[in-house]
Amino acid sequence: MKMDDSTRDLLLAVDGVTIDYGGFKALDGFSMTLQKGETRVVIGPNGAGKSTLCDTIIGRVRPSAGRVVFRGEDISQLPEQAIVGRGICRKFQAPGILSGLTVEDNVALAARRDRRWWRNLGFGIPAAERETVDRILEMVGLADCRHREAGPLAHGQKQWLEIGMVIATGAELILLDEPTAGMGPAETRRTAELIHSLGDSRTVLVIDHDMSFVEQLNATVTVMHQGKFLAQGDVASIRQNAEVAAVYLGHAA
Ligand SMILES: Nc1ncnc2c1ncn2[C@@H]1O[C@H](COP(=O)(O)OP(=O)(O)O)[C@@H](O)[C@H]1O
Ligand SMILES: [Mg+2]
Repeated sequence: MKMDDSTRDLLLAVDGVTIDYGGFKALDGFSMTLQKGETRVVIGPNGAGKSTLCDTIIGRVRPSAGRVVFRGEDISQLPEQAIVGRGICRKFQAPGILSGLTVEDNVALAARRDRRWWRNLGFGIPAAERETVDRILEMVGLADCRHREAGPLAHGQKQWLEIGMVIATGAELILLDEPTAGMGPAETRRTAELIHSLGDSRTVLVIDHDMSFVEQLNATVTVMHQGKFLAQGDVASIRQNAEVAAVYLGHAA
């Protein structure tokens, strides 16, 4: 890799990574890089390896070849906990929300620097975290239901709460795997606005296959197919890419 201006603010490099499931390569020599502060969308047909890419970055699966470099450090053999400690966070899955707690307590617990947060249960939100929690509740549009229990929230609200919790951890790199799954058009638009509102304060890797959402994000798009890099560019160029179209239509060679 040339060391020029384009690599100066390099945050993450996935470098020739192969993930082998008993002979089947979910990732097959896949490479991509992320610059500090950018929002990137990864698309690709079902089974392309998008979720495996997230699993690899967060350390849930180990490459048999290649490496993942975060801020200049090879993290590909670190335990997931250590990777989270370095500043990478994947959106909490549904069980990540504690349904019996209020919306604001969920955000506050995610924000807690002391990750042994259960020690702090029931002691209220410390003043130092109050500001962060309030800012995030505004950001994800849940300020009005801060005192409601998280369990009965609508599906879209739960998704936003999960995103808010990821933001609250302070992670520099945020991985969102299909954040708009099960959302209608209005909720999807709101989610794009939410990701936009992060500006370049965070680096965000978004996986999604809803092209209207991808368009709203107006980010660079990386296309995967069969565990490999297929194409990259802005939404317009990806829309016009014949190889990409072929893959989505199932006509790829
Ligand atoms: N734990 C696993 N064991 C075996 N195969 C897997 C495993 N996880 C994923 N795969 C396979 O790897 C491929 C990529 O999966 P995935 O990364 O989930 O794709 P995507 O998120 O792009 O739909 C799929 O063919 C899937 O069946
Ligand atoms: Mg997936």
